[in-house]
Amino acid sequence: MLSYQHAYHAGGPADLHKHIALAELLTLLTRKPRGITYMETHAGRGLYDLASDETAKTGEAAEGIAKIDLPDCPFADAVKSIRAMHGETAYPGSPAIAAALMRESDRMHLMELHPAEFKALRINLEGEASIHRRDGFEGVLAIAPTKPRKSLILVDPSYEVKDEYLQVADFTRKLVAKWPEATVMIWYPILEAARHKEMLAALRLPHLVDEVSFDLKDNKGMTSSGLALVNAPYGSEAVFSRTREIAAQVLR
Ligand SMILES: C[S@@+](CC[C@H](N)C(=O)[O-])C[C@H]1O[C@@H](n2cnc3c(N)ncnc32)[C@H](O)[C@@H]1O
Repeated sequence: MLSYQHAYHAGGPADLHKHIALAELLTLLTRKPRGITYMETHAGRGLYDLASDETAKTGEAAEGIAKIDLPDCPFADAVKSIRAMHGETAYPGSPAIAAALMRESDRMHLMELHPAEFKALRINLEGEASIHRRDGFEGVLAIAPTKPRKSLILVDPSYEVKDEYLQVADFTRKLVAKWPEATVMIWYPILEAARHKEMLAALRLPHLVDEVSFDLKDNKGMTSSGLALVNAPYGSEAVFSRTREIAAQVLR
């Protein structure tokens, strides 16, 4: 099923949780000169326009990025650099945030299955990453492990079908079996059915969890978002506390 479009949710509170933590974590992982591999199973288009009809329709960005006064931080740098290139209403997706923080020695692989999102991603991230039009779980497992072996894999599916929660756990277990040192960051929505709990239980791997709540007028049942980190590097707790500090006007 490919009906989900991230444009409706770009810059909303859940995106802030994921994107600020991603920028902090990548900064932590790139502190040493040795290169890293960054991968995404579900990349989206990489660049969004907050003046779009989609953004206006849900109003999520108005309750997210529009509400915060960004302090100096890696996420703010990524937003600034995307706005310098694409204008004041541009908002970076996770691939563009990563691209703003990658160095010559780092490598990026992005998976996106939706034809239009894939096409836009290829244009938006041209020259920055290897971009694959294939299923994200299958694609990452097929090419893993890559060099450099030090890595971060972002798992950010749309959870359109309930099976996706257990697919995430199964994928993560298979990936870590092939690539024991891979750091995996999983984003998940927290809904009334609480399927994320089955996913976390099925991981059966040590992991750190960070869950935050927020207000959304048209919330479609989602008022909280979660991040699970497998093979969390030293300093990950500080990544999550810094994320809450940066978005304190929105996340609690
Ligand atoms: C939540 S969005 C990604 C948002 C992005 N990570 C960000 O933070 O900017 C999920 C994306 O996964 C894509 N997608 C859906 N099924 C997929 C699959 N099996 N493999 C790869 N991508 C898929 C959708 O088209 C959508 O663009």
